[in-house]
Amino acid sequence: MMFNKPAFRWIHLMMEEMGTDIACIKLGGVHIIPISCPMIAREVLKKQDANFASRPLTFASKTFSAGYQNTVLSPNGDQWRKMRRILTSEIICPSRHKWLHDKRAEEAGNLTGYVYNLVSGGDVDVRHVARHYCGNVIRRLVFNRRYFGEPQPDGGPGPLEVEHMDAVFTCLGLLYAFCVSDYLPWLLGLDLDGHEKMVKEANKRVSGLHDEVIDERWRQWKSGERQEPEDFLDVLITLKDTHAKPLLTIEEVKAQSQDMTFAAVDNPSNAVEWALAETVSSPELLQKAVEEMDRVVGRDRLMQESDIPQLNYLKACIREAFRLHPVAAFNLPHIALGDTTIAGYHIPRGSHVILSRIGLGRNPRIWDDPLRFDPDRHVLLSDPKAQVTLTENDLRFISFSTGRRGCIAASLGTAMSMMLFGRLLQGFTWSKPASMAVVDLRESRNGTFMAEPLVLHAEHRLPAHLYSS
Ligand code: HEM
Repeated sequence: MMFNKPAFRWIHLMMEEMGTDIACIKLGGVHIIPISCPMIAREVLKKQDANFASRPLTFASKTFSAGYQNTVLSPNGDQWRKMRRILTSEIICPSRHKWLHDKRAEEAGNLTGYVYNLVSGGDVDVRHVARHYCGNVIRRLVFNRRYFGEPQPDGGPGPLEVEHMDAVFTCLGLLYAFCVSDYLPWLLGLDLDGHEKMVKEANKRVSGLHDEVIDERWRQWKSGERQEPEDFLDVLITLKDTHAKPLLTIEEVKAQSQDMTFAAVDNPSNAVEWALAETVSSPELLQKAVEEMDRVVGRDRLMQESDIPQLNYLKACIREAFRLHPVAAFNLPHIALGDTTIAGYHIPRGSHVILSRIGLGRNPRIWDDPLRFDPDRHVLLSDPKAQVTLTENDLRFISFSTGRRGCIAASLGTAMSMMLFGRLLQGFTWSKPASMAVVDLRESRNGTFMAEPLVLHAEHRLPAHLYSS
């Protein structure tokens, strides 16, 4: 009976029934350790961070990283250290963040303009808008283009961009999906549940689109046709080692480009879809957010990234979305490199530790009324002007996580999430469509996305000339 549910649901049900914040499930020869208490989570990712700085080897992660050549999915070792160092010192670093500001700003402009066009046609599919905004931003940063194919007159995605985001989200759904052959390796190759075929197909769809751009760009640099770096891809291709030799092979460039694309799209789009659904469902919250926007930015100009520090309530809404509606039930898995003890329990070497995002964020011992969407819980009552940030180093919920395997892109992730949420709130008045009794806030059965894509009614709320500026 229990096993009819997706794995993450029965794991949480079991932990709840046992009244425990740490458990051990044995799958094949592997100990899987789910954790839903911040104190225990901190023991893993703060106190014993070095011992948990690896990732499991799985069919999907190996396929998506071309044999562990990237950062997010690579196990602990020289390749992971090399790729992570490149990202933090050359790509996702403050100087590059500034360098690419105008490309992000242009995408925020495209978002505003595209939704303006959609609003004229009726209700708006917020999930579609959110996912494609994220796709556009990361394509602009990595490949300096928002379209693989022909630009579309309304500013929306064309068939290839739809294909791109569909395939990326399919890959993300297949990653660390408790596939039986990852725990019973002798089943690998038999593909009893079709997982391997789905992984290979989705990966091919993404890499097919990326490879065409990367192969051509590689050629341009090698032939001397290209001289000036304009995007992350150029930076990756032109990095040199201490002997002035190319630091990365083309395979590494491809793996790292795919890595960044995977890392950038699901968190901001999911958080904003939920935050908008929750605030539209509680008009007093929506009103507070819109009032803040009007007070900080006004209606005579569009919100910019430089406004983010002043938009505390909006940031609190996104934090609350990360807490209550994380993109996935579990954080990316961490592997124990050696035997150890956590919360008094023996954890054998090779165990997979998975911090439960829903277990932490909805833990009733940590949060009052945990299932209520209440952004104010993130605003310091004693000092309402204190900066709200999206990071959560104490692991009371997972946003960017922490430690050696923590997210390296809190600035970019914050900018993307906040520009998406902010521009939607500033530019449009959102309400539930007349045909709906209430906004459907159910979570999907197989994951933590909304059960159905959020569709809302929207009206323009700014002077017309701003939408095209
Ligand atoms: C709101 C947006 C984002 C959120 C909430 C987020 C969150 C996370 C989380 C939870 C992890 C796993 C941490 C762990 O294993 O404990 C992670 C890892 C990572 N993220 Fe992000 N991320 C975001 C955006 C991005 C973006 C835009 C990039 C780069 C383009 C990025 C790059 C990475 C990388 C490279 C890692 C893996 C680090 C490693 O394994 O060494 N993330 N992120």
